[in-house]
Amino acid sequence: MEQRLLNKQILLGVTGGIAAYKSADLVRRLREVGAEVRVVMTEKAKEFITPLTMQAVSGNPVHDDLFDVHAEAAMGHIELARWADMVLVAPATADFIARLVGGEANDLLTTLCLATPAVIVVAPAMNQGMWKNTLTQDNVQALHQKKVHVFGPAEGNQACGDVGPGRMLEPTELVTRVCDVFATGRLAGRRVLITAGPTREMMDPVRYISNASSGKMGYALAVAAQEAGAVVTLVSGPVHLAKPSHVKTIDVVSAEDMFAAVMHEIENCDIFLSVAAVADYRCKKVATQKIKKESETLLVELERNPDIVAEVAKLKKKPYVIGFAAETENLLVNAKTKMQQKKLDMVVANQVGQADVGFDSDDNAATVLWDVGQKEFARMSKQKLARELVELIASKL
Ligand code: C5P
Repeated sequence: MEQRLLNKQILLGVTGGIAAYKSADLVRRLREVGAEVRVVMTEKAKEFITPLTMQAVSGNPVHDDLFDVHAEAAMGHIELARWADMVLVAPATADFIARLVGGEANDLLTTLCLATPAVIVVAPAMNQGMWKNTLTQDNVQALHQKKVHVFGPAEGNQACGDVGPGRMLEPTELVTRVCDVFATGRLAGRRVLITAGPTREMMDPVRYISNASSGKMGYALAVAAQEAGAVVTLVSGPVHLAKPSHVKTIDVVSAEDMFAAVMHEIENCDIFLSVAAVADYRCKKVATQKIKKESETLLVELERNPDIVAEVAKLKKKPYVIGFAAETENLLVNAKTKMQQKKLDMVVANQVGQADVGFDSDDNAATVLWDVGQKEFARMSKQKLARELVELIASKL
């Protein structure tokens, strides 16, 4: 089954309506397509389905109390609100919708909805008369204006014997609609592999050869690609950066480690972004003990490391390959040569050795070259440049 919700974290709110019995099936189906699900239940929901059932199907403890000190210690309500990529309330009763519109925070679920930066989706489920009531309709209008998604309701037979609009959409339909909400990004469904940071080539157990790469550009690209809907894997040399959320990060040290990790992950990748400043050489012999300062001079013999990006570009089933060219002189000529020699689809050329852009700074400027064109990006934050590059790459695929 296609993992359309891989890495997506969904907070499922269950409120007190008879359709709550379908919420367990909904959790199972969300997980089948890759989502991680945590469940929040209102008091009334527990009249229809047990927390134990929801815990069993979600694989996570159920949250139901704003003032439970133990639950708050494990994952507090604000943390939970931040954790979610989406808050999905299914079923959403007329009462819950009214409280949401009113901005109330009188239970855990409404509080989470107020606190979360995530997208909110409600799947109404109620008697057809309650749904048609102008009070409910006004509330639903208010939700539309507040950019809350309203999925359904469906029409048909109701548990109370009525026939009309008010049935919760079936779980399979809800999952499809949830996937569509996430699938708006430019790289939706694409698999992206990124290398970032420097590598370290050990001389002895405590000394190494490395470079000044901070990893900031590669990490910013990982976030931008993830936000554009891609499934992102980041192979990172030693850096001092927080791991981006929803990105699979593999830590490596040397160029050879990085090469092995990349080759392990490259299958089925659509895009390879080689941002790492990989050491071109490693020490031919790594001393087993710390080297003593006995002689006036010390000769360390180096040998070539694999050129990771060039090896990826040689693969039979190769992804779209983007290299980076950090140059101190003849920027464009050197970048073009690199693109041709390494058989890259695109190269991002940037000047290094300046104080305020490039390697360790927060800003960057670049010229991007591809077979038939080029584009200049004036100095901007690495985050912004990352988003612009993602947009450009998406337009070339
Ligand atoms: O040849 P140069 O190191 O300047 O090329 C830079 C590009 O090649 C970058 O995309 C870098 O990530 C990649 N590279 C690599 N493996 C190496 C050296 C560079 O993937 N051993």
